[in-house]
Amino acid sequence: MSAKLIDGKAIAATIRGEIKAEVDAMKAKTGKVPGLAAVLVGERKDSQTYVRMKKRACEEVGITSFGYDLPADISQEDLLDVVRELNNNPDVHGILVQLPLPDHIDDEEILGAISLEKDVDGFHPLNIGRLSMKRRDPLFVPCTPRGCIELLDRSGVTIEGKNAVVLGRSNIVGLPVAMLLLHRNATVTICHSRTQNLPEVVRGADIVIAAVGRAQMVQADWLKPGATVIDVGVNAVDDPTAKKGYRLVGDVDFDAAKEVAGMITPVPGGVGPMTIAMLLKNTLDSAKRTYGLA
Ligand code: GUN
Repeated sequence: MSAKLIDGKAIAATIRGEIKAEVDAMKAKTGKVPGLAAVLVGERKDSQTYVRMKKRACEEVGITSFGYDLPADISQEDLLDVVRELNNNPDVHGILVQLPLPDHIDDEEILGAISLEKDVDGFHPLNIGRLSMKRRDPLFVPCTPRGCIELLDRSGVTIEGKNAVVLGRSNIVGLPVAMLLLHRNATVTICHSRTQNLPEVVRGADIVIAAVGRAQMVQADWLKPGATVIDVGVNAVDDPTAKKGYRLVGDVDFDAAKEVAGMITPVPGGVGPMTIAMLLKNTLDSAKRTYGLA
C-alpha cells in the first residue's frame, strides 16, 4: 500500500474527546448540557441503525438525546406538530429528522419547519442557501460535508488552489461539499450521471470526493498518482463469507486505489464516524450559542 490511510475512526474519536471536554465545562459553568432530538419515521433498517449510532454517540459525550420513533404512516400535520413541539422545547438544541422520509411526506416542508437555530443537520433551505453564497455563513453546515473537510484539514491536505472533483450532486453531500471546497478556494468540478469522459475528469483531481452511492465505481486508473481520496459511499455487497452475508464497500475500488492515491479513507472507518462527530459538534455549537458561550 502506497497511500497513507486517513483514519476517520481515530480522528472522530479525538473530536468526540474535544466535545466531551466542552460539554463538561458547559455543565460546570451553567448546569446545562446540550440536547439533541432524533426523529425517526418508519422502520428502515439503515435509518434505525444510523439513529441508534447517533443517540449512543450523544450519550458518550454527555449530550442528552431525545428519541422520537414515529410510525411510517404518520401524517404531514402530525409530523409538523412534533417538529414544532421540539422547536419550543428549551432543553433541545438540535433537531435531526432522519432522511429519507416516507414518500407521502413533503420533506422540504418538514425540514423548513425546523427552527433555524436548531437545524444541526444544516438542511434548512435558508442554511443551504447561505452555504451557497459568498460570505453568508450558515448557522450550521451539513454533517457529512463538514466531516470531509475536517478529514482533509486534520490530515494536513491543502485545499486552496487545488483541483477538487466531487462525484455526485445530492443535497446531503455532493452539493454542500462542493460549496465548502469552493469557499476554501479549491477549483471545483461537480460530476454526475451525465458527465462525459468521467475517468479523464477525475484524473485531473488533486482531491476526489466520491459520493455517488455506487459500489467501487471509481477505478485506480481514474486517479492522478498522489491524489487525496475521500470516499463517502456506503454500499452493501453480497459476501457469503461474511457473518451477515454482506459487507460494506465505498464508491472507490479501495484495494487498487490505495496503490495510486497519496491519501485515502477506508470504508467503513472513514467518513462515517466523522458524520456523527460533526452532528455532536453542531449540537454543542447550538447549545453554546443558547447559553452565550459561543
Ligand atoms: N440520511 C442520510 N444522511 C443523513 C444525514 O446526515 N442526516 C439525516 N438527517 N438523514 C440522513
